Amino acid sequence: MIYSKITGTGSYLPEKVLTNKDLEKLVDTSDKWIQERTGIKERHVAAEGETTCDLALHASRRAIEMSGISNADIDMVILATTTADKIFPGTACLLQKKLDVHGCPAFDVQAVCTGFVYALSIADKFIRAGETQCALVVGSETLSRILDWNDRSTCVLFGDGAGAVVLEAAAEPGIMSTHLHADGSYEHLLHVPHGISIGYEQLKAGEAYVYMEGNAVFKMAVNTLGQIVDEALEANRIGKSDIDWLVPHQANSRIIEATARKLKMSLERVVVTVAQHGNTSAASIPLALDVAVRDGRIKKGQTLMLEAFGSGFTWGSALLKF
Ligand code: ACO
Repeated sequence: MIYSKITGTGSYLPEKVLTNKDLEKLVDTSDKWIQERTGIKERHVAAEGETTCDLALHASRRAIEMSGISNADIDMVILATTTADKIFPGTACLLQKKLDVHGCPAFDVQAVCTGFVYALSIADKFIRAGETQCALVVGSETLSRILDWNDRSTCVLFGDGAGAVVLEAAAEPGIMSTHLHADGSYEHLLHVPHGISIGYEQLKAGEAYVYMEGNAVFKMAVNTLGQIVDEALEANRIGKSDIDWLVPHQANSRIIEATARKLKMSLERVVVTVAQHGNTSAASIPLALDVAVRDGRIKKGQTLMLEAFGSGFTWGSALLKF
């Protein structure tokens, strides 16, 4: 049997930090409201001209360095993003060029906040099939570019950043399972209602912004995340107590706490970065993973549950031995 295993992690946050206090000057909000409802204290924002690919490149270099591979070993690049640099080609191709990697498949995955879990699952399947030996899997976002900075209900929630992993073929797991889901009938609850084939004028004018019915999304997220945790545990015939670390999508600390309660996990075993990063969509899980690997909390051989819920709706999990 061939399995896939994470051999390196990396992440990158833009230099500029936007605190809740800074946001108080932009919209009618307060540090207290944002912290109480979301757990967010600050988020990073890309500099003018700094793109999703630029952030992805920094994160990728760090993951490559940790894994000990060389760029030439990479035979697949998958980049999960909602905020591509260009309409085409895919940002994965732009990243491939910057890494001086040639010829291997490179493509983007668009599953919004679940994008990294989707990308990891695809790379795992290619490796298990024997077609890929060494995949670079990235989540990178410049969500600040699609926020209405006059809309307090959304602009306080999101941030920019990137995370990456190197996933290599291995004789033992590695990734134990991935489960992916979507239900497009909920697309209108969390979306950017303009795009290339509808509302291109707004897109061109830079007026295509995130729209969210926060309360409805919140309820669905809490219910669904509990279910996907059970699904992954049952598929692997393991118990809640076998999980060493929960590495959840970082949208809201209240959603994270509800999922931890469902797992009967103390928050000490949950990686929480939402206070410093905000919601970085597809970047949030690999960013959180890298933080906890580099500060020594996550150790080799431990069992991790990654889970995400986002626009689409899309949701999914990955259970793995690190
Ligand atoms: N500052 C102050 N007041 C605010 C702000 C703000 N920034 N934003 C909204 N309010 C007000 C509202 O206007 C409302 O006022 P009203 O009662 O006078 O009408 C009040 O606060 C309550 O608003 P709610 O939307 O009901 O607040 P809620 O407790 O639901 O929190 C939040 C909102 C944080 C957005 C929450 O619903 C949430 O986290 N939703 C889920 C987000 C998520 O998980 N997204 C999925 C992934 S994201 C992706 O895929 C891109």
